[in-house]
Amino acid sequence: MRKEVFEQYESEVRSYCRAFPTVFTRAKGSYIEAEDGRRYLDFFAGAGALNYGHNPDFVKERLIAYLQSDGIMHALDMYTDAKGKFIQALQDNILLPRKFNYRIQFTGPTGTNAVEAALKIARKVKGRSNIFAFQGGFHGMSLGSLACTGNQYNRKGAGTTLPNVTFMPYPFGPMAQIDTIAYIDAVLSDPSSGIDKPAAMLLETVQAEGGVVVASAEWLQKIRALCDKHDILMIVDDIQVGCGRTGKFFSFERAGIQPDIITLSKSISGCGLPLAIVLLKPEIDKWGPGEHNGTFRGNQLAFVSGAAALERWPQMQLEQQMQSKAQLLEQGCKQLIERFDSRLTLRGLGMIWGIDFSAMSDPDLIERVLATCFENGLIIENCGRKGQVMKFLPPLVASEAELKEGLDIIEQAMQKHF
Ligand SMILES: Cc1ncc(COP(=O)(O)O)c(C=O)c1O
Repeated sequence: MRKEVFEQYESEVRSYCRAFPTVFTRAKGSYIEAEDGRRYLDFFAGAGALNYGHNPDFVKERLIAYLQSDGIMHALDMYTDAKGKFIQALQDNILLPRKFNYRIQFTGPTGTNAVEAALKIARKVKGRSNIFAFQGGFHGMSLGSLACTGNQYNRKGAGTTLPNVTFMPYPFGPMAQIDTIAYIDAVLSDPSSGIDKPAAMLLETVQAEGGVVVASAEWLQKIRALCDKHDILMIVDDIQVGCGRTGKFFSFERAGIQPDIITLSKSISGCGLPLAIVLLKPEIDKWGPGEHNGTFRGNQLAFVSGAAALERWPQMQLEQQMQSKAQLLEQGCKQLIERFDSRLTLRGLGMIWGIDFSAMSDPDLIERVLATCFENGLIIENCGRKGQVMKFLPPLVASEAELKEGLDIIEQAMQKHF
């Protein structure tokens, strides 16, 4: 297929295709195949939507059987067998074993839909319009989520004001030098701070788009305590780093806390089909029937695939396997830094890692390295405040051999440009 069909007719807004300019046709496990037969190792994993790899057999079989049985394809939010099984699978395999008590809200199928619903219910329940979001955070592109997203380029795209959000410092960069918790506490405690008390704090436990910035368990615990102290809801946006990415199913588990509201999307469907949910503590579930709705808030196929993945979660033992894979990635990245330039830095945990190029004198270096990676058969993207972080996001099921293969390709690319 000619690439011109995209370049001529598709909007200028297209983006990933500019970094990976080829036409893809098939995919399996950790690899994507292009129409010319070339195979690419995927360290991008649909920006976190493909934690179980491409077309996992156990999901695909269920989907095929469902399609062949003429299973319901669309039902708004009516009761369906597929939805019931998804809810049960989430309860049995994830929520009950953790003794978590949350109601499940199905929103429109993208992550930003879930964030919008979380913000709305928090404002409704607390009767306050302000939200505290965090510098460097990313929550989606619809106006409410965008108002909580730090990136100026994305914010400008709104073309309008993005009100009712105050950004608080996340413990990173220069802000890591200050006591961010004491600062937020002071803002909330001072009736003359000039900042309205928020309904909720919305945060990622690992800022993924923000540059793989990992908040410590202690910081997360203190945020939880601050929320309790000041009667503020805590919303964890687990859309990118949930579903096992950081080692546990939920990314906040390492801090031993429970948010009041959790947003999940991306890998919750098990195979990249669109699905988004909000988990609400029962006392926060103050919605009236249909008060927040949407035609596609019940993606039946995604329920089928998502249930298959959740049912398998306990036996996949991803949490156990991840320790050695995380170590492999960490060690591999450290060796790259040692070999090429000590100004590079490394952050991450589980199966999300970032090599930060910010201290390098040439801001285009990272783009050249990533372009060479692609030429040599690896799909990997950059992220971060200034796009200077190489983000490792392989499928959780990638084998150690595949992880080594990716690291080798990166090493060759760095060798060429350093
Ligand atoms: C943490 C986080 N929240 C929300 C979103 C928005 O999800 P979507 O692009 O599906 O709207 C993303 C997308 O990358 C994300 O990483």
